[in-house]
Amino acid sequence: MRVFIILPAAGLGTRMSAGHHSTAAPKQFLELAGVPILIHSLRAFAQVPKVSTIYVSVRANERERVEAQVSEYGFADKVQIVTGGDTRQESVANALNALDCDDNDIVLVHDAVRPLIDPATITRTIEAVEKHDAAIVGLPAVDTIKQVERTADGAIITATIPREYIVQAQTPQGFRCGLLRRAFAEATADGFTGTDESSIVERAGSPVAVVAGSSTNLKITQPGDLELAEFYLQRTAALHR
Ligand code: C5P
Repeated sequence: MRVFIILPAAGLGTRMSAGHHSTAAPKQFLELAGVPILIHSLRAFAQVPKVSTIYVSVRANERERVEAQVSEYGFADKVQIVTGGDTRQESVANALNALDCDDNDIVLVHDAVRPLIDPATITRTIEAVEKHDAAIVGLPAVDTIKQVERTADGAIITATIPREYIVQAQTPQGFRCGLLRRAFAEATADGFTGTDESSIVERAGSPVAVVAGSSTNLKITQPGDLELAEFYLQRTAALHR
């Protein structure tokens, strides 16, 4: 059994371009502690011995830049670069089509823009997939969750969902390769687009387990997230000093 990683990194990161951090670079190429965000993510997966190859989906016009970065940081032998698509799902599908896996092999998909993922969480996700065939990292909700209806006057609450029933989906999200491929084929046939891989596997009728995540595994989305990620990174470095 082999473990493959897919890092979708073909987003435009438009939400990042507002405010004082205005930049032309998509967020996966911004630097965190002097190192591109994508490289932080790659590093964490490269440290897990079970991982064989990491597929990175990028926009065609960014291929050269990513190839140069991957070589500069010494990951060229572990990484394959594929062309992403217009949606995250397409970017993942392109990588999934490119990899040569057996049904029983494991594929983990991880947002390239979650650079603080740690090797221990990755390993726990792989172990959960070995046991359950599908598992994602999720963060138990601490806030009280309300269901709302959007009206012209703003949101009106329609229900309170007990928070013990809620986890916030993060990544990595891992699956047996055969299961993920079948679920993607069904989604494509039905014209379904999901915001994560788990939703695609869930709708195919397969149970998905949850591994405990952490608030430090944040997705760099808006201005301000970079500063928070720097803070977490420095704190982790200080703990290991
Ligand atoms: O846009 P969102 O924050 O959901 O992006 C999550 C991840 O998916 C990012 O790493 C982004 O680069 C990637 N993505 C992609 N192809 C797209 C859109 C997003 O690979 N078309």
